[in-house]
Amino acid sequence: MVRWREAMAAALYGSRGFFTRPGASPAAHFRTSAHTSPLFAAAILRLAAQVDAALGRPDPLDLVDIGAGGGELLSAVVAAAAGSPLAPRLRPVAVEVTPRPAGPARVEGGTGNDPRAVAVTWRQSVPGAVTGLLLATEWLDNVPLDVAEVDTDGVVRYVLVDPATGEESLGEPVAGPDRDWLARWWPLTEPGTRAEIGRPRDQAWADAVARVRRGAALAVDYGHLAGRRPPLGTLTGFRHGREVPPVPDGSCDLTAHVALDAVARAGAPPDTDAEGAAPYGPDTVLVTQAEALRRLGVDGTRPPLALAHQDPTAYLRRLADASAAAELTDPGGLGGHHWLLHPVALSHPIRPFVAR
Ligand SMILES: C[S@@+](CC[C@H](N)C(=O)[O-])C[C@H]1O[C@@H](n2cnc3c(N)ncnc32)[C@H](O)[C@@H]1O
Repeated sequence: MVRWREAMAAALYGSRGFFTRPGASPAAHFRTSAHTSPLFAAAILRLAAQVDAALGRPDPLDLVDIGAGGGELLSAVVAAAAGSPLAPRLRPVAVEVTPRPAGPARVEGGTGNDPRAVAVTWRQSVPGAVTGLLLATEWLDNVPLDVAEVDTDGVVRYVLVDPATGEESLGEPVAGPDRDWLARWWPLTEPGTRAEIGRPRDQAWADAVARVRRGAALAVDYGHLAGRRPPLGTLTGFRHGREVPPVPDGSCDLTAHVALDAVARAGAPPDTDAEGAAPYGPDTVLVTQAEALRRLGVDGTRPPLALAHQDPTAYLRRLADASAAAELTDPGGLGGHHWLLHPVALSHPIRPFVAR
């Protein structure tokens, strides 16, 4: 029996791990916003353009995607940028621990005047210095972490798991920084209640944000905030798009919702530990995906029926967009995900994210 963090790390990223074993095709097991519609990539491009303008249009403008999967989002952003003045300066970088997918290594994204092809660079670690936009969509929920549970005497203990079967038992009392993290972000008292100790995610996000010299860092993920934590935690498994018991044997994706307020605090500059109105510093923005996409102009309004008579093709295209927008902004689904944005050394606020 081992702690969940160790079990999850081996099951996802070990030599026979779900994401890293030879021949793994993890994208077959989940469908994220990036897979749902090009509208998501178009919104990310709009955000990148805002960052670009606030940076004074640097050349190159980095677009770094941590946990890029098969590169679907980066490819779609590059495709959406094709022909724009931004395209020749865009430097897309996929950061992935899984093997790079087979297929074309280059995505065409040059303009008519500058037909440079935009090559997506693949790496296993985050570049040391980023000028531009750093992304992490549904990465943090896959960062391994420990689970805690309150025993019948009220003692908060680590949950241990058998990697072969998923059977659990309780181990040592939670101590040290993990205990401090729970006390601050997810206090447990009632016997039987559980929490996922988000400290490794806070650290992972703080490390990633620290790589941004100038620009912004955006995490998009499902999660929860203080006061609305699920009493039994959220650790679960997925296989072929279906939820399955979380057995850490490498046969399924393992994921737990992200404590996004803790992550926000970790990614904010240390000198802005303000109380009250701006708990993550004055510049950090934490909104739902529905709100973020609305601010970025994603519109789920159905086209007027009259358009169907005037221009049936345009009508059908706008209808498909409206339906995809509705899925991306559905408060009970993808729209309920969080967007966490940290601007870094920008000369003026990014317009769509000026808090109202
Ligand atoms: C749920 S998938 C999300 C893929 C993609 N971002 C999307 O939204 O469709 C999480 C990805 O993060 C990758 N990953 C996890 N930890 C990583 C790390 N430390 N560095 C790079 N990639 C990582 C996994 O291999 C996996 O492909």
